[in-house]
Amino acid sequence: MKLLIHHIGTIVGIDTAHRDRIAGKEMDCLQRLDNAYFLAEDGRITAFGPMEEMPGIVADEVLDAEGGMLFPSFCDSHTHLVYAGSREQEFLDKIHGLSYEEIAKRGGGILNSADRLHEASEEELYCEAIERVHEIMRMGTGLVEIKSGYGLSTEDELKMLRVIRRIRESEPIEVRATFLGAHAVARKYIGRQSDYVNLVCDEMIPAVAQEHLADFVDVFCDRGFFTIEETERIIRKGAQYGLKAKIHANELAVSGGVQLGVREGALSVDHLERMGDEEIVALQGGHTMPTMLPGAAFFLGMSYPPARKMIESGLAVALASDYNPGSSPSGNMRMVMALAATQMRMTPTEALHAATINGAAAMGLSHDFGSITVGKVANCFITKPISSPEFFTYAYATPLIRHTVLRGRIWVG
Ligand code: NIG
Ligand code: FE
Repeated sequence: MKLLIHHIGTIVGIDTAHRDRIAGKEMDCLQRLDNAYFLAEDGRITAFGPMEEMPGIVADEVLDAEGGMLFPSFCDSHTHLVYAGSREQEFLDKIHGLSYEEIAKRGGGILNSADRLHEASEEELYCEAIERVHEIMRMGTGLVEIKSGYGLSTEDELKMLRVIRRIRESEPIEVRATFLGAHAVARKYIGRQSDYVNLVCDEMIPAVAQEHLADFVDVFCDRGFFTIEETERIIRKGAQYGLKAKIHANELAVSGGVQLGVREGALSVDHLERMGDEEIVALQGGHTMPTMLPGAAFFLGMSYPPARKMIESGLAVALASDYNPGSSPSGNMRMVMALAATQMRMTPTEALHAATINGAAAMGLSHDFGSITVGKVANCFITKPISSPEFFTYAYATPLIRHTVLRGRIWVG
């Protein structure tokens, strides 16, 4: 199967150096090619170059980009998009003055979603989730990580992870699954947190591994949720079963979760609204990707992570949507880039690298995804003709995406 795209105004997000992430000052350097063609064969990028060098090719599919811009697909490394129902009542509670933590303490929040998920069948959950998956595909995402964590019992966590597996098998978007049993203490275990941690370690992780349902393990390591010691125990147990760690850290308090993640070789530490200088120093010593979720800071009215400080310290940073019913009910990565630009003073180029190749690195997949590089999976989208790459982030709500290409095929959603 060959796909040829011609008359592309500009290809952006090229990486000819085969970097596994883009860090520091380089985050603001955009490799681009004007007036270009792009060729994919059997799902991989096999060539791209200037129009005048386009070889005579007989392709199965030919697309005229009509001067539009070609971007690598977004790699959204942090979502919770499998859930039942919605939580707009809590949205109103927040407007009337309650905080996210207060809502959680009253038994709302994650436990509210867990109650609904318990009532929903696997089929119902799949049907709801697939709508969200198609929505993010239309908005340019080609690789997504999806977490469990609204089950909070072995049976319901497995139900969620089976839904994620079904999405992975049925859609051309690339999916990775994360087991997040330690998202909150289940209702039945309130007051018995250590028994719940035992359940996560001794029953849930082995059961998840037995069915090969997850790639990663995650813990909500924060004030009022799970401690550093509990987090360490859970991710070490996950490691015994081949699950790489990702950690929800430093959203509500400076928790020590960042240092723990670096020490344990986690793939990423995510949220980072509360960061001190020690956290930045710790990240400089490791390979753990700091991942920021400005959609959550926006929706909950929290302060934003110190992105400039991190980039100026030479770090690579990633951006993800956190798509979930409580703190970020949107998977729109373009909006995430716009928030990064307006609220954290990241340039659109830095934001693009953070939302593509560095997001892929936060899933250990940047060798295959996240840039326009010969040999990588042919995932990209093509816009209407636009005046500059920056316009895409600037005009953040204007529908600009005309075509989505996933695994070297035009996806019609
Ligand atoms: O990343 N912080 C923890 N978990 C999610 C929110 C989940 C929810 O409220 O349903 C987050 O923001
Ligand atoms: Fe999250």
